[in-house]
Amino acid sequence: MQIAYTKEELRAGLQEARGKRIVFVPTMGALHAGHASLMRQARELAGEQGVVVSSIFLNPVQFDNAGDLAAYPQTPETDIAVCRECGVDVVFMPTPEMMYSADRSMVMEETHLSTVLCGASRPGHFAGVCLVVCKLFNLVQPTDAIFGKKDYQQLAILRRMVRDLDIPVVLHGAEIVREADGLALSSRNVRLLPEHRAAAPQISAALRAAAVAYAAGAAVEEVRGAVEHALKSIDGVRIDYVELVDAETLHAPVADDRMALLAVAAWFGDVRLIDNIELVRA
Ligand code: PAF
Repeated sequence: MQIAYTKEELRAGLQEARGKRIVFVPTMGALHAGHASLMRQARELAGEQGVVVSSIFLNPVQFDNAGDLAAYPQTPETDIAVCRECGVDVVFMPTPEMMYSADRSMVMEETHLSTVLCGASRPGHFAGVCLVVCKLFNLVQPTDAIFGKKDYQQLAILRRMVRDLDIPVVLHGAEIVREADGLALSSRNVRLLPEHRAAAPQISAALRAAAVAYAAGAAVEEVRGAVEHALKSIDGVRIDYVELVDAETLHAPVADDRMALLAVAAWFGDVRLIDNIELVRA
């Protein structure tokens, strides 16, 4: 496995790979089993002949809150070990100064899907994600890229970016990886207080119950309201949103023949957790 610390090293490291299938998994580090699963899927997709590239870059421009950025775990040594174990060929680990000129003046804004869900409470977040992912796509020039469905809105917005800007890459959405008790894996989980960690699986339990009710024909507001009620009953939890929307447009209304998305964000102490589930009518 090769580690590229600069854009030049990345370019040199990928020279041989041009013309082959290049499968890319961008990350911000603090890698856990969810990331490992994305990397293994990338290895599978690339096959023996293809190349798997991953980036580890804590992207400052996608943080709307300086405290969240400062508290974000950074574990470069274990991250490198995870990449190696999962069959990554090239890891790109630039610094913020290498990625962003001090007088950077380009912005990258998606204007419809970014206005709702996490976009409503995290101004500038998705513009920062689009900017860095577009730059990483330009640097790596992958044929394919894999993103987890835990950040469902991020994936939907990146699909829109790739479509609207004709970026020649195929995006793949990977299923959410969960702890045995249902809690979706997240780099933020390690910051949960014990009582919040104990209560957090109630999110996925409520989502699973909602999927069953939706499949059985329950009304949108009834399904959404039941999840909101379940989260409200957890001590000390502050709900950011509970929304049931069309899975592609991320807006209402949700037609019965379309995939729906039930998405939640809630604060457990000072840790903001998100989770979601795709819903279909039976
Ligand atoms: O999902 C993430 O970890 C980040 O938003 C991404 C896609 C690596 C961009 O910084």
